[in-house]
Amino acid sequence: MKPSVVLYKTLPDDLLQRLQNHFTVTQVSDLHPNTVLAHAKAFSEAEGLLGSSETVGPELLEKMPALRATSTISVGYDNFDVDALNARKVLLMHTPTALTETVADTLMALILSSARRVVEVAERVKKGEWTQGIGPDWFGTDVHHKTIGIVGMGRIGLALAQRAHLGFGMPVLYNARRQHKEAEERFNARHCSLDTLLQEADFVCSILPLTDETRHLFGAEQFSKMKKSAIFINAGRGPVVDEQALITALKNGDIHAAGLDVFEQEPLPVSSKLLKMPNVVALPHIGSATHETRYNMAATAVDNLIAALDGKVEKNCVNPQVL
Ligand code: DGY
Repeated sequence: MKPSVVLYKTLPDDLLQRLQNHFTVTQVSDLHPNTVLAHAKAFSEAEGLLGSSETVGPELLEKMPALRATSTISVGYDNFDVDALNARKVLLMHTPTALTETVADTLMALILSSARRVVEVAERVKKGEWTQGIGPDWFGTDVHHKTIGIVGMGRIGLALAQRAHLGFGMPVLYNARRQHKEAEERFNARHCSLDTLLQEADFVCSILPLTDETRHLFGAEQFSKMKKSAIFINAGRGPVVDEQALITALKNGDIHAAGLDVFEQEPLPVSSKLLKMPNVVALPHIGSATHETRYNMAATAVDNLIAALDGKVEKNCVNPQVL
């Protein structure tokens, strides 16, 4: 008999078929308690769980006594209680490589659009305000040859350093727990303290995962250390930033602008002050959101679940120690 799995995300037809070739699949819309209750038998029998962007913690695990592996269609897994999974010896699989280049593209898009005010001036054109040759009130600031500071030098940081350094001639500073040899050798990146990076970078780019150590890492003190001309970019996780402190820093002119793909609360409430600020580019967490990359992430997650439930895990596992 095929193992049972619960799927809480829509998959492309061919990937759903691949999943169904290996498992008996129950598809649900989400992991809310009411949904779990409505499909109690499927949840209680499932050995696998596949989807993204839902909380997986002790309450859900209690309803899934047969669970052996969960597979998330994302690189980030801050919505999983890893300790609870470990205690139950449930594997957690993710997609760390499938989205690297696409998220680095998103970061460059945020850098370019914030510095050159792309969204703001395009809106002005649409409103019919381009009625004569433009003056300084339409100008932006240069990106090329400015200093980029990358906080979190993992795969995405490296791909961003490549674009910034080789494409735009930007000197690269980075802050990370460990030195990154490849970034230093290929892109002349300089490892430095967070304070040095904040003081010297023209673009401060956060690509950090959300952990106990990174929550609210960027607050009033950090914004006050940045250049007044600095542009703050975040495409990691929203709660890494104290959003109220960011709003204050932008309002007071402590920093020049921000390009944000992630927020403390998502979707970003329409009442957010950030949405009223012309010097903020706010995107709806599109980091990896291209057709190609989202397909590749889903395919990787399906293969990850097949490998995990087959006892053939070789990569993409967050907690291999439970094996
Ligand atoms: C991830 O995979 O964690 C990203 O945030 C999705 O875009």
